[in-house]
Amino acid sequence: MCGIVGYTGHEEAAPILLAGLKTLEYRGYDSAGLAVLSDEGEINVMRAKGRLAVLEERTEGGKLLPGKCGIGHTRWATHGEPSDENAHPQFSDDLAVVAVHNGIIENYQELKDKLLKNGYSFRSETDTEVAVKLVDYYYKKYYGTPIDAINKAMVRIRGSYSLALLFKDYPGEIYAARKDSPLICGKCEGAALLASDPTAVLKYTRDIYYIGDLQAARLKDGELTFYDLNGDEIQIDPVRIDWDVKAAEKGGYEHFMMKEIHEQPKAIRDTLSSVLSGDLTDLSSGEVSDDMLKDVEQISIIGCGSAYHVGVVASYVIEDLVGIPVRLEFASEFRYRRPVLPKGTLCVIISQSGETADSLAALRMAKEQGYRTLAIVNVVGSSIAREADHVLYTHAGPEIAVATTKAYSAQLIVCYALAIRLASVKGAIDQDEEKRLVSEIRSIPDKIEKILEDDRRIQWFASKFANAQDMFVIGRGIDYAIGMEASLKMKEVSYIHSESYAAGELKHGTISLLEEGTLVIGIMTQPGIYEKTLSNMVECKSRGAYLMGLTTPDHADIEDTVSFAVYVPEIDPHFSASLAVVPMQLMGYYLSVSKGLDVDKPRNLAKSVTVE
Ligand code: AGP
Repeated sequence: MCGIVGYTGHEEAAPILLAGLKTLEYRGYDSAGLAVLSDEGEINVMRAKGRLAVLEERTEGGKLLPGKCGIGHTRWATHGEPSDENAHPQFSDDLAVVAVHNGIIENYQELKDKLLKNGYSFRSETDTEVAVKLVDYYYKKYYGTPIDAINKAMVRIRGSYSLALLFKDYPGEIYAARKDSPLICGKCEGAALLASDPTAVLKYTRDIYYIGDLQAARLKDGELTFYDLNGDEIQIDPVRIDWDVKAAEKGGYEHFMMKEIHEQPKAIRDTLSSVLSGDLTDLSSGEVSDDMLKDVEQISIIGCGSAYHVGVVASYVIEDLVGIPVRLEFASEFRYRRPVLPKGTLCVIISQSGETADSLAALRMAKEQGYRTLAIVNVVGSSIAREADHVLYTHAGPEIAVATTKAYSAQLIVCYALAIRLASVKGAIDQDEEKRLVSEIRSIPDKIEKILEDDRRIQWFASKFANAQDMFVIGRGIDYAIGMEASLKMKEVSYIHSESYAAGELKHGTISLLEEGTLVIGIMTQPGIYEKTLSNMVECKSRGAYLMGLTTPDHADIEDTVSFAVYVPEIDPHFSASLAVVPMQLMGYYLSVSKGLDVDKPRNLAKSVTVE
C-alpha cells in the first residue's frame, strides 16, 4: 500500500529514487512522484498519474530533477482518485515542506478544518496534503527544528503513517516519522536511505534500521539519527537481512509470479531447514519450546487473504494430528469483536509481509488480552515479527508479485511443522510417526519440481478458458481449503469470477448459477471423501458444467467423469495442499497471460495492505 523511498548522499538522487521505486512498485502503482532538494535549498517536485514508467519518462530518467537529496513515492490511492494532483509528494504552498506518505490519517477532516481556519488552502483530495501542511504549520508557528514540528504533528495525527519529508531550509537532509506503517532506514559510505521495505535498499546495505512507532529519524551526511516523541535521541540497532539482491529481480523469467512459482522448492527447502532437525521437528528457531506447547489447549489462527487460507489448511491438519480445537479468523474480523478464547489459547498470526494492518492490530489485541502469540512471517524485522512473543520465519526470500505463491507454500510448511511438533509433545503421535510425517514433508520440494516440469497442458487449458466469466472450485476438507486459495489466484490475476465451495454445499443454493459450459474444478486429493466430491462433480455435469479434476495418479478413473484431469504426486493427505495448489497457481498465471493482463500487478491491488 504505497511505496516510499528517500536518498541523500554524493550521487544524483532522482535515478536512485526511481530505481528504488521500481522495487516497491508492487506496493501500489496508480501514480508516482519525486521531490529533489538541491544544494541551494530549492525543492522541485514532479508527479505523474499511471505506472512508474510515465514518471520516468516525464523526468527523463530523473535528469530533470537535479540534486543529491530526495524522496519518492508510488501510490495506491486511498483519499482521492489517482491523478497528478493527488499523487505524492504533497507540499506546503511555498514548497518549504514536502512529504510522501503511506497510510491513512483518520482525523484528516478535523485537522483540515483547523488548517483552513489558519489560512491554509488545499489543492488535492489527499490526507497527505493535510499532514504536510500540519507539519508546515507547526514548523512556522514555533520556529523550531523539523523534528519539533514533526513531533507536534505526530501528537495530533490519528491513524497510520510512514512519512518522509524534505525541508527547504535543511539541504541534504531527509526527515521521517512512523506509526503503524512500515519504514526502514539504511546507510552506506556517505549516503543514507529510507524505504517502505528493505528490498529497495538492499543494493546499498543489508543492515536495516526499523523505525518504531511514534519515532522519527533524520538522514544526513551518511548518518542516521533517531528520535522519540519528546525529541530526545534514541538508539536503534540494525537488523541484518540475508536476502540475495538478485532474489528481487526477474532473473530471466517474464514475470515475478512465474519466477516465484518456480522458486517454491527452494523456499520450502530453506523453510524446512529452519523447522526440522534431522528426522524430527525443531521449533527452537522461534523459541517455541516443548514446555510452552504442552500448555496449548486451543489454537486461534489469524490472517488475511492467502495467509488466512494457509490457516484453513492448518486448522484441518492440526485438529486431525493433534486433536485440539483450532479456531480461525480473518484478522479484520478478529480485531473488531470480543473473541472469547479459553485460557491456554495460542494465537498464531500468519503474514508474509509482517505489516498487514489488520493482522498487526489483531496481534496487538491478542497480546493485550493476555494470549500468547506466535507469528509466522516472511519479512525479517517486520512489525508483526517484532511484536509477537514468538516468531517462526518462512524463508521464501522477497516476494514481489502481488499474488502470493512461494510465501503461501512456505507458510504451509511452518504450519505442518507446528502441527507435528504439537502432536508429538502432546503424545498424539509417537516418534516413529513423527519421523514418517517429517519424511513426507521433506518430499514436497522434489514433488513440486515434478509438477513444474510439465506445465504445458495447463497452459493449453488456460488459453481455452481465457474468456470464461465464472468458475467454481469445489472440494471437501483440505481440498476445500486448497480451492479457496486456487479461487483467489484466479480472481486476483485473471479477473475471472471464481467461487470456492465446499462440495457438499453446492446444492444448497449455488448450483443454480451453473450454466452450459461453466467450468467446475474439483479438487480431490483426500482419501475417503474422493467419491463424495466426485458425485458432486457429476451433479454439476448433469447441469451442463465442464469439469476439470485435480487428483492423484491412483484415481486415473476420474477421466471417465471429467473432461480434463490434472494429477499431482501422492503424499500423506495432510500435506496435499502443498502439491495441489501448484497447478492452480499455474492456471491463474496462464489465464492472466492469455488475457494479456499485468500478472504481477493486478488492477486495484497492492502487495502489503497497510491500511485497514
Ligand atoms: C494473495 O495473493 C494476496 N496477495 C493477499 O491475499 C495476501 O495474502 C494478504 O493481503 C495477506 O498479506 P500478508 O501475508 O502480507 O499479511
